[in-house]
Amino acid sequence: MNTLSIVGLQFGDEGKGKITDSLSHQFDYVVRYQGGHNAGHTVYANGQKYVLHVLPTGIVHPHTINILGTGMVISLDALQKEIHPIKVSQIRISDRAHLLFPFHQQLDIQSEQSTSQKIGTTQKGIGPAYQTKTSRIGIRAGSLKDLARLKIELLQLTNTLGVTFDVDSYLHEKKEFIASIVPFIIDTSYEVFQAYEQKKRILFEGAQGVMLDLDHGTYPYVTSSHPTPSSIPVDIGLPPSFIQDALGIVKAYTTRVGEGPFPTEIFGDAADIIRKTGNEYGSTTGRPRRIGHLDVVMLKHALRVTGVNQLAITLLDVLSVVDTIKICTAYELNGQRTMLVPSHAQDLANVKPIYETMPGWKVPIQDCKSFADLPKEAQAYLHRIQEHLGVPIRFISNGPKREQLIERGHHD
Ligand code: GDP
Ligand code: IMO
Ligand code: MG
Repeated sequence: MNTLSIVGLQFGDEGKGKITDSLSHQFDYVVRYQGGHNAGHTVYANGQKYVLHVLPTGIVHPHTINILGTGMVISLDALQKEIHPIKVSQIRISDRAHLLFPFHQQLDIQSEQSTSQKIGTTQKGIGPAYQTKTSRIGIRAGSLKDLARLKIELLQLTNTLGVTFDVDSYLHEKKEFIASIVPFIIDTSYEVFQAYEQKKRILFEGAQGVMLDLDHGTYPYVTSSHPTPSSIPVDIGLPPSFIQDALGIVKAYTTRVGEGPFPTEIFGDAADIIRKTGNEYGSTTGRPRRIGHLDVVMLKHALRVTGVNQLAITLLDVLSVVDTIKICTAYELNGQRTMLVPSHAQDLANVKPIYETMPGWKVPIQDCKSFADLPKEAQAYLHRIQEHLGVPIRFISNGPKREQLIERGHHD
């Protein structure tokens, strides 16, 4: 197959950007299919640090074409900031992707301030932008091609939403930038379809993670899109048969930003040392990430809803600082054991995780180049994860840099 989907199997920030970057040399196209600039993908390559929010991470490689697909919500401000140092000719934007405007962000901020059920969103306007899309009053990127029509659409939208927004000054401010991207706003379904027919290699880069999926995540503490490979056919406009191989990205422990249930969460010094070692602070909002043990129940749920057929385990090096490693292998809810993730957030918050414990390795592993180089305790941890999940671990990431990636051999 010439396509590969990269998907986060936890709560986002699993290291999707790093893996996308490390694999991008093998691909001609890198395609983002959902979300917006709520994503933050950090990569260290060419001696530089890149933090991508709205652009696909493949952009770091000059040979790639990078698609912003129909399922995305795109902020012109975010795009403008990120495109600045990058060649715009490497980018294609779906004419059907929805635009995210500053008033969407204001609505997001207001809703986080006023609701009793705070989600802890990134406050970028993602939820409100998807709301205008599904309410069928949204404005799509294709509208940027005709500013007179865009003005009318913006006046209608702001009027319907009842928000104050100076349409004229916004359009005046953005005029030049819009003109610079218009040549790259195209029918991306057609482009990707043609690329596939021509046997080009296509990488689909997910944002967020399955536990933040609108339907299959920890609702309502989720994002407003579907970070699963099964959404790619709809989000890009492709036959489902194009999407087969999917690489699930799993952090060697668990993190979460924002509110919501987190059964294996840990606190105090135990969490602090992992947070500090793994630099676990949100790349979009700078918030400290919540830390927890690996959760096999959630991972099995994520594997089922995604059909992932290979895994990358990331940030394994961070666990060098702990004495022992715990894996949650089942939940107990109201005295009953279960391997299923309860659908209600309150029930998930009440489960008791059942753990097994393994010894840590307590030596640095960032310089290891092969599976055989890893300490035997680290190898045992990986074998145990694979045993629990029943899906082969293909890659092990043992540091933030592009080259700190071990591809497992058949006999490892
Ligand atoms: P994404 O949203 O899934 O792309 O992940 P983020 O980039 O938000 O968060 C992952 C963080 O871990 C980033 O700061 C990466 O630079 C870093 N990272 C990725 N892989 C590794 C790894 O194997 N080891 C370490 N120590 N850091 C990593
Ligand atoms: P990447 O692509 C981690 C979380 C927010 C919040 C919830 C809803 O870097 O993995 P939203 O702004 O989307 O309405 O917020 O989802 N969230 C993420 N957490 N990584 C992300 O992206 C996230 N994008 C959204 O913290 O809990
Ligand atoms: Mg991130």
